[in-house]
Amino acid sequence: MKTIKISIIGFGAVGQGVARSLLSKQEYLKKQGYDIRVVGISDSKGSEINTKGIDLEDALNRKKQKGTVAIDTSDALELIRNVKHDIVVEVTPTNIGNGEPGLGNIRAALHAGRHVVTSNKGPLALRFTELKEAAEDNGLHLRYEATVGGAVPIFNLVHEALAGNSIIGIEGILNGTCNYILTRMEEERMPYELVLKEAQELGIAETDPTYDVEGIDSAIKLVIIANSIFGQNATYGDVDVTGITKITPEALELANKNNYVVKLVCEVRESRLTVAPRLVPKRHPLAVGGTLNVASILTDLAGRITISGKGAGSIETASSILSDILYIARNS
Ligand code: HSE
Repeated sequence: MKTIKISIIGFGAVGQGVARSLLSKQEYLKKQGYDIRVVGISDSKGSEINTKGIDLEDALNRKKQKGTVAIDTSDALELIRNVKHDIVVEVTPTNIGNGEPGLGNIRAALHAGRHVVTSNKGPLALRFTELKEAAEDNGLHLRYEATVGGAVPIFNLVHEALAGNSIIGIEGILNGTCNYILTRMEEERMPYELVLKEAQELGIAETDPTYDVEGIDSAIKLVIIANSIFGQNATYGDVDVTGITKITPEALELANKNNYVVKLVCEVRESRLTVAPRLVPKRHPLAVGGTLNVASILTDLAGRITISGKGAGSIETASSILSDILYIARNS
């Protein structure tokens, strides 16, 4: 049995999803030969640390009742630096301004010799090359499947299953909130403000939903794809971005009459990065509805491969995080 000690930094929807998944998968993972122990959890008010392994049920209950997991005042950086463990699971909220606190947490983890698994888009969109090099220089893994497409394994697919292919281009729908809004506006003829409110209630919209509807969240994800898959050194400013705020119900109706749907499509082709609403034929693989995400990858050997699935959600995002943890467990 291989014991892997991890910390969970950030205990919001994603962090709690990771804890719940580890609880429900404990026996399954042990049968596969892995004892994954959480030795530290940290949120904005403090931490719980137990080098023998935290009782996750207890931690989840405390978070629910008291609003925090903290039972001691150590902050995330102290936990990352001072508690001996293998993997830092960095799942604090995305901040695209300066990437903090995620950027500092990831830097500290790599500096302390710990592998990193993250769902945090900010640090990767802002400092991809720096972080990747820091991981490589220290012989560590930096895994970020959960940053783009939630449960949809885009990076694993390209880097593992499609290894050997040259990737010619990728187009996709990478923001569930926009896709939900456009779908509901078209199918139910609902007004924009009302559907946006629904998306917020579903818990998929960003804290500031401008990030979703102005195309910013999509653009950040596209930057991570461009850097990870196309070896670029892109940042947000390199993306040509148009959001969905100017799409009228009349435009959606007209598209519908002509057998098209309007989608917020992200595309990387050569060095061009674009996020913009586009007309997509109703039977096209990109014409997925509701909160779904989709990525269509054009390769030289395999042709076009398209995958679709849930782009947000606490357990769905935890699926990608768990896969990254197991990748490191197998390969370190
Ligand atoms: N707000 C994002 C979305 C969440 O709607 O897709 C997942 O990154």
